[in-house]
Amino acid sequence: MNNFTFYAPTFFAFGRDAQKQAGALVTRFGGSRVLLHYGGGSVVRSGLLDQVKASLTGAGLSFLELGGVKPNPRSGLVYEGIDLCRREGVDFVLAVGGGSAIDSAKAIAAGTVYEGDFWDYYEGKPVEKALPIGTVLTIAAAGSEGSPDSVITKEDGMIKRGASGEAYRPKFSILNPALTQTLPPYQTACGITDIIAHLYERYLTNTKDVEVTDRLIEALLLAMIHEAPRVMEDPNNYEARANIMWAGMMAHHNSCGVGRSQDWTSHSVEHELSALYDCAHGAGLAVAMPAVFTYTVHHDVMRFAKIATRVWGCQMDFDDPERTAKAGIEALRSFLCSIGMPKNFAELGAKEADIEYLARTCCRGSGKADGKLRGFTTLDQSDVEAIYRLML
Ligand code: NZQ
Ligand code: ZN
Repeated sequence: MNNFTFYAPTFFAFGRDAQKQAGALVTRFGGSRVLLHYGGGSVVRSGLLDQVKASLTGAGLSFLELGGVKPNPRSGLVYEGIDLCRREGVDFVLAVGGGSAIDSAKAIAAGTVYEGDFWDYYEGKPVEKALPIGTVLTIAAAGSEGSPDSVITKEDGMIKRGASGEAYRPKFSILNPALTQTLPPYQTACGITDIIAHLYERYLTNTKDVEVTDRLIEALLLAMIHEAPRVMEDPNNYEARANIMWAGMMAHHNSCGVGRSQDWTSHSVEHELSALYDCAHGAGLAVAMPAVFTYTVHHDVMRFAKIATRVWGCQMDFDDPERTAKAGIEALRSFLCSIGMPKNFAELGAKEADIEYLARTCCRGSGKADGKLRGFTTLDQSDVEAIYRLML
């Protein structure tokens, strides 16, 4: 196991009606003037926004609103939010929604207290300072409610990039599984896929002897495989929603990723797809993951065989471990299809003619000065092109 530091001080309020604690929690973490930040209207229609406002008012807090965050959140609204926060003396940013609203809130929180352009953080500068952030989560997916990360798309060129730093860990996150019951099935499935991807990105490691984190990841994957069909069949299954919601947090706040190298190739490959075609992140991952794993399986056949047997119930073929490894990748692919995820470029709305562009931007992003993608394996542009071709 590698040396590591781990500091994840988010306060979680989990369960039915937890959103009623919003006012008390903002007060507890020092806020007095709040920016309420949300998406395209689901929280208005469900009545959640009104409940959160009532809670803030009840706690004697003043607030402003900025809605309209799009999935794959854009830089334009972040600049608007920064101006608003500065003008109005906002001292706390509360996101009500999914990963997109939360990531946009994080960017606003950092940009408000930074003299330069907030995009510097998305070009690789570590985020050291931000206004305090809280979240009321409405979809189990990105894990931004517990992560130190944020992903924003710059409209100029439609470049999608991530930023990271301890200041991006929310002070508190409110997780009420019942709030996810209004999700369309497709979005529920996208969320499940993203959670599974966050687990795979950590499982694919070159670090030896990491049995504790291996086992944590396997347990979370097994729980997802158990709960996903239950929630797809009955969207109002609170218990299934609850397990998926906590798994989403656990998968990405990194307690199961410490002390080991991680991959993140599937995410890099996917981010180019959602940047160019504006598809859902989870849907892009459903197409990207099997292709990335098929391309990289020879790097460590036994690691893929291990997840195949321990998680997907495949029989170990000791004479031909590659067969077992590939059976695990196929099991993942058919599981994702079974919950309604796309399986190829066409179903995603992606185009073969764009492959060269996708691979080039993927390998030339921030922090990749030498044009290589580093994770479980090291890949150059031609490798990434080959991966995109496997998605056709
Ligand atoms: O915008 P509204 O109207 O709220 O609708 C949203 C949106 O259309 C809808 N929705 C959310 N909760 C709902 C609901 N509809 C009905 N009922 C509810 N309870 O679902 C759609 C998707 O929402 P979004 O916030 O975009 O989903 P998600 O949480 O999957 O976030 C995706 C973004 O997170 C980034 C992705 O790249 C993508 O931009 N990621 C962020 C990470 C992080 N910060 O740590 C890590 C991830 O790997 C990921 O890259
Ligand atoms: Zn993700």
